[in-house]
Amino acid sequence: MNTETTSTGAYRVSAEQAAVEDDVVNRVLASFDCCEDPRLKQVMRSLTTHLHAFIRDVRLTEEEWNTAIEFLTAAGHITDDKRQEFVLLSDVLGASMQTIAVNNQAYKGATEATVFGPFFTEDAPEIPHGGDIAGGAKGQPCWVEGKVTDTDGNPVAGARIEVWEADDDGFYDVQYTDGRIAGRAHLYTDAEGKYAFWGLTPTPYPIPHDGPVGQMLEKVGRSPVRAAHLHFMVTAENLRTLVTHIFVTGDPQLEIGDSVFGVKDSLIKDFLQQPAGTPTPDGRDLNGQDWARTRFDIVLAPANT
Ligand code: BEZ
Ligand code: FE
Repeated sequence: MNTETTSTGAYRVSAEQAAVEDDVVNRVLASFDCCEDPRLKQVMRSLTTHLHAFIRDVRLTEEEWNTAIEFLTAAGHITDDKRQEFVLLSDVLGASMQTIAVNNQAYKGATEATVFGPFFTEDAPEIPHGGDIAGGAKGQPCWVEGKVTDTDGNPVAGARIEVWEADDDGFYDVQYTDGRIAGRAHLYTDAEGKYAFWGLTPTPYPIPHDGPVGQMLEKVGRSPVRAAHLHFMVTAENLRTLVTHIFVTGDPQLEIGDSVFGVKDSLIKDFLQQPAGTPTPDGRDLNGQDWARTRFDIVLAPANT
């Protein structure tokens, strides 16, 4: 008796059945023979190989296949120019982080990249050094400062820094329907590579979970909550663009887990609480409100590394 099993514990099929299934795979692989783009051909052949291996490994039922089609259809229906369910799906399956890992290989001491997320917009206002990104968003004021250098330690002047974050209620501006622009801005490093701005102390929030991806997370017993974070995108000439965020030391969600696998130890920063009345770095009067401060020094790898 054949006692060999697949990863799911199902018995392997007979030699005759395996030949029938191999024949399907081989015919699909051959269908790409005339593809003139070698990269596209490679990607489609590999996708076919892995997809068929998966179907055969779990012995996918027709009912399960139908459920998958319904799931993808629902993801399509909920997707529009503001809501991207397929990006969410890629994020919660770790596919986004894996693509980032493949494309941002470690280089000397360069700052690590993490997931982009769906809430970046191109139209964030410019603020001066020490400006405020809140734009009316609720939250504890947080002074964020740092320096941008290359991997040889040279300061990078004029680097463009985009920052964006959710408010205290866990929502980005684009999730409101009133067209507000809040909790986002861009600024440039000075001649010494330094930058500073007022943001909001990040708090944990769930990824949008009122659609098929949220239902899937619930079914598998996973939380949609992300560890508290502040997004950065840093661009500078001849250097690798960095998309990343910083996390908050002591955030309990770091222990529980980040729903999109975005946390890296090197990106967890101390956000030091400052009691009400503590003088601010730029003399700003916070009307007796407490505040926080953090430092994030950024190292950019050379372009094309
Ligand atoms: C975010 O960082 O805001 C985010 C990232 C991935 C999926 C959803 C949200
Ligand atoms: Fe985010």
